[in-house]
Amino acid sequence: MENTQNYIAENKERFLEELLDLLRIPSISADAAYAGDVLKTAENIASNLKNAGAENVEICETAGYPVVYADKIIDPSLPTVLVYGHYDVQPADPIDLWTSPPFEPVVKKTDIHPDGAIFARGACDDKGQMFMHVKAFEAMVQSGELACNVKFMIEGEEEVGSENLGIFVKENKERLSADIILVSDTGMLANDVPSITTGLRGLSYVEVEVTGPNRDLHSGLYGGCVANPINILSKMIASLHDENNHITIPGFYDRVVELTDEERAEMAKAPFSKEAYCKALDIEDVYGEEGYSTMERGSIRPTLDVNGIWGGYTGEGAKTVIASKAYAKISMRLVPDQDPEEITNLFLNHFESIAPKGAKVKVTPHHGGEPAVTPIDSVGYKAASMAYEKTFGKKPIPVRSGGSIPIVAMFEKELGLKTILMGFGLDSDAIHSPNEHYGLFNYYRGIETIPHFYVAFSELHNK
Ligand code: BES
Ligand code: MN
Ligand code: MN
Repeated sequence: MENTQNYIAENKERFLEELLDLLRIPSISADAAYAGDVLKTAENIASNLKNAGAENVEICETAGYPVVYADKIIDPSLPTVLVYGHYDVQPADPIDLWTSPPFEPVVKKTDIHPDGAIFARGACDDKGQMFMHVKAFEAMVQSGELACNVKFMIEGEEEVGSENLGIFVKENKERLSADIILVSDTGMLANDVPSITTGLRGLSYVEVEVTGPNRDLHSGLYGGCVANPINILSKMIASLHDENNHITIPGFYDRVVELTDEERAEMAKAPFSKEAYCKALDIEDVYGEEGYSTMERGSIRPTLDVNGIWGGYTGEGAKTVIASKAYAKISMRLVPDQDPEEITNLFLNHFESIAPKGAKVKVTPHHGGEPAVTPIDSVGYKAASMAYEKTFGKKPIPVRSGGSIPIVAMFEKELGLKTILMGFGLDSDAIHSPNEHYGLFNYYRGIETIPHFYVAFSELHNK
């Protein structure tokens, strides 16, 4: 590994410049106006993989954005690692809250990143983290130290639900055969507290529409006489949590796996400062489900949150009007063994049942995904743990995350493979938010750590 690490040290500047080039392409998968840029990004990844030394590089067409595939099979008797990542990013809005343009990456110092962080949409989620794998691979290949076979599958639709990746995986099972999947699309606790993500929450996402009268009405003439859809929607949403912040949808918790006291005690060992947490978010106190810690509320417990709500008059000044319709987008984060389809149905039935007679309710389900957990006694986890120990000088802590990567459960189902989540982002990196950034420390440390995983996995696997 010495040649690999030297190669990384010698090429640091170029590795950064190449990531900045990638970040300049606005690959927003949710907005069709950027379709050309999303495709350009796929080409950028493909040529980077080719230059790194990958073979069979292919931009695989799907019904949506393409999947970039590449591999390097050095010896069929060695294990194979399948690297997954995504090259699409979230929309950048609200644009005016960015301190520098989202697709003009710049390196700036912050309190948490004294060595500097790259500010750009996708810097952390997931271009920066995905690109660490391309560069780590390049370093291993060019140094003649690649320790096992590698396959890459980099998609362009993660932020919009990975629908076509599901089809791609089903149709390419042979080509994607591997021993483990490796993903950097999550976070760690802090730059001096390495951790490995051992669980992801699932997701059920719905849009609701409440219709009252058939047209907007004068709020003086009709106010008090008809169901105001915005009032009604607010009331209905408020009723979805009780006074203990438990979710009130009947059956919602039926399949939730409760952790044992030992498991909860183990979780509680991870460092967490409520004070620092509140300070970082400028809040006076945390808020959530009774009986659970903040760490637990954000990982092992299911949640329901309104992500957007609109209707009526929101322009300047006052317009006295009762809107005909009100809308909201609602996400439910799920934990094992909740099933997204079942939860969506429970929501739908409940939401319809609590609407008053004078209002109509329409619920439209969006994409969802199953939760996933990974064991910590597997060869893959041990190899990852050894890799972190090499570069951080301490053992990483296993941590369950609150985010979702729905394809992880799908990979297990379709390919029979477990995923190792080696994330190097920090919660404070503002992913999906204005001023998303990724620490230079994190970028380089990731590139340095990944090759150690390959070596350790190859050794442990063949034992
Ligand atoms: N990389 C994130 C998920 C993530 C981030 C997991 C940090 C754990 C820690 C991913 O790109 C993402 O944003 N997923 C979406 C779900 C998807 C279906 C749009 C999410 O979690 O909201
Ligand atoms: Mn991501
Ligand atoms: Mn994301």
